[in-house]
Amino acid sequence: MSTPTKPIALTRFLIEAQRAGHINPDLRLLIEVVARACKAISHAVSKGALGGVLGEAGTGNIQGEAQKKLDVLSNEILLEANEWGGHLAGCASEEMDDFSKIPNAYPKGNYLLLFDPLDGSSNIDVNVSVGTIFSVLKCPDGIDELKTEHFLQPGTQQVAAGYTVYGPSTMLVLTIGHGTHEFTLDRELGSFLLTKRDLRIPADTKEFAINMSNQRHWFPPMQRYASELLAGKTGPRGKDFNMRWVASMVADVHRILTRGGIFIYPRDQKDPDKPGRLRLMYEANPMSFIVEQAGGAATNGAQRILEIQPEKLHQRVAVFLGSKNEVEVATRYHLEAQ
Ligand code: AHG
Ligand code: MN
Ligand code: MN
Ligand code: MN
Repeated sequence: MSTPTKPIALTRFLIEAQRAGHINPDLRLLIEVVARACKAISHAVSKGALGGVLGEAGTGNIQGEAQKKLDVLSNEILLEANEWGGHLAGCASEEMDDFSKIPNAYPKGNYLLLFDPLDGSSNIDVNVSVGTIFSVLKCPDGIDELKTEHFLQPGTQQVAAGYTVYGPSTMLVLTIGHGTHEFTLDRELGSFLLTKRDLRIPADTKEFAINMSNQRHWFPPMQRYASELLAGKTGPRGKDFNMRWVASMVADVHRILTRGGIFIYPRDQKDPDKPGRLRLMYEANPMSFIVEQAGGAATNGAQRILEIQPEKLHQRVAVFLGSKNEVEVATRYHLEAQ
């Protein structure tokens, strides 16, 4: 991992990626536009109460969640920024019942953009880190009319994925399939500057992230795995583990990309029909691509998340991701119990 002495801007990074043949001009423009929208969201988030953006919107989304004003605003910012550029065929979002087509007034492109406009929205009103997560797919060639089925591609088909974390500083973490790279927003310049190239997640860790309050609802393999972590030095794992849970996936994954760890949101018996809490298309797939590109692993307890064939746009999935060796142990316990 190397930190350049004179940071390069996202624009230059993307131009160089284009010259290297890793992206084409349309995908470069798309990523630039998403980054620009994230700057606008960062600005709105940082205004907080002064911008009148905190609190409930008074509406709900298709997932049955109450929307915050910032969930709705961030969704609008991303849609508005992307609809006129000519690089997209359509968008899908956690906050929209159906995918959104590009209005007829604008040209259409070859990409599909999927996003969680504001991740960790329960943290907004308490001034804790939130984020935006996005995933880019190629639209199948030769289609007459865009349909939901065109979005239902496994995560291995992603051509780019990233997240922005709105924390003490605003950071963009991006992969275009050639490593995972971190940019920090320079607010005076208005640019994202490369601050870490090729993030690497250590294979071993002593840190885990899970909502422990759900413990009584977990299935036996999850109970087994967590009890071993909690047993500490004298237990079967022979080391003490530390726990961290921000309750914003972006912030928890960002910590794991920075210093290792395992992030878990398992399926549980509270709602056995639900295959997990997190959304495959807006959260699990992009994060899995980012984590794998940084040398980590991501499964649903049975298979690699990126190989799951999606059946629904708002599909949920169990998530085990981060340091490779821990994800392997947790997945093995689940497979053994099948
Ligand atoms: P969102 O705010 O986009 O709906 O996502 C919230 C997700 C994720 O960010 C986080 O890891 C998890 O929900 C938090 O779950 P708990 O409320 O169970 O802690
Ligand atoms: Mn939500
Ligand atoms: Mn989310
Ligand atoms: Mn969200």
